[in-house]
Amino acid sequence: MDREKPRLGTVQETLLIPLYARAVENRKEHALLRDARAEEIVASIDYDFGRFDDLPSLTGALLRTLLFDRWVTDFLSEHPDGTVVEIGTGLNTRHERVDNGRARWFELDLPDVIALRRTFFTDTPRRTMIAASVTDESWAVEVASRTDGPCLFVAEAVLPYLHEPDVRRVVDLLADRFPGSLLALDTAGPGFFDTQEQHDALSKVDARMHWNCPDPAGLADWRPGIGVLASHTLTSLPGPLLAELPLPYQQMVSAIAAQRLPQAEGYRLNLLHLP
Ligand SMILES: C[S@@+](CC[C@H](N)C(=O)[O-])C[C@H]1O[C@@H](n2cnc3c(N)ncnc32)[C@H](O)[C@@H]1O
Repeated sequence: MDREKPRLGTVQETLLIPLYARAVENRKEHALLRDARAEEIVASIDYDFGRFDDLPSLTGALLRTLLFDRWVTDFLSEHPDGTVVEIGTGLNTRHERVDNGRARWFELDLPDVIALRRTFFTDTPRRTMIAASVTDESWAVEVASRTDGPCLFVAEAVLPYLHEPDVRRVVDLLADRFPGSLLALDTAGPGFFDTQEQHDALSKVDARMHWNCPDPAGLADWRPGIGVLASHTLTSLPGPLLAELPLPYQQMVSAIAAQRLPQAEGYRLNLLHLP
């Protein structure tokens, strides 16, 4: 098989980390999630994925994906015809994992990522890829013109790479164009942000985070009416989700929680309600 050499910008390259995490997990007997598609995609991309082998943060990426998947599933149970917008979708396969056969999906990323994504995925009447920066208002205009239902925006491992003024611009853009919507995002606080040079996976690529968010509760002050509906570390996942993990993973999470590592405590997964 001819393997595709990805031509990706610096921050765009980071999409290969969670992709590889899902691909490797798919081969395990007791897996956190199944993603045969990720395994196929990894096999067809010409990239030194071996640099990420056995890195502990691959498990962290999977736990994050599971919680974000759960938030999408919860949203779609309440709004089966709702709209899910994947911001910085990379080569994520959330649609394959949790689509309900009715919802409207938009998958947004920078142009080089969408060009690569189009070699593996195709648009359908319910699923549309958009090539744009999340900070560019044009994509929001397009999505707003094509949907009028409740929206959930999922920004998984994306916003920490932006500078804070740009993150604020994105939150304002979403609140202005899609009032009442939900936004799932991760935040890197000092314990995580300040140690990124030593981070097992980030240190293997050139991209770096720029938004240091010490306390996601403070996001409620960014705009009147923003509500922080949930905020979890990877070691304080919701009980029902934790209880569904294979036992070795439950034990691993408990062991890491007991150490109260600044890196683990500083990284949070959050669900916001926008006014
Ligand atoms: C770590 S990857 C996460 C990919 C995907 N969300 C996942 O979990 O598999 C970060 C992604 O954010 C995208 N990204 C970074 N800055 C962006 C921007 N300004 N607009 C849109 N996407 C952006 C990158 O191109 C990349 O695909």
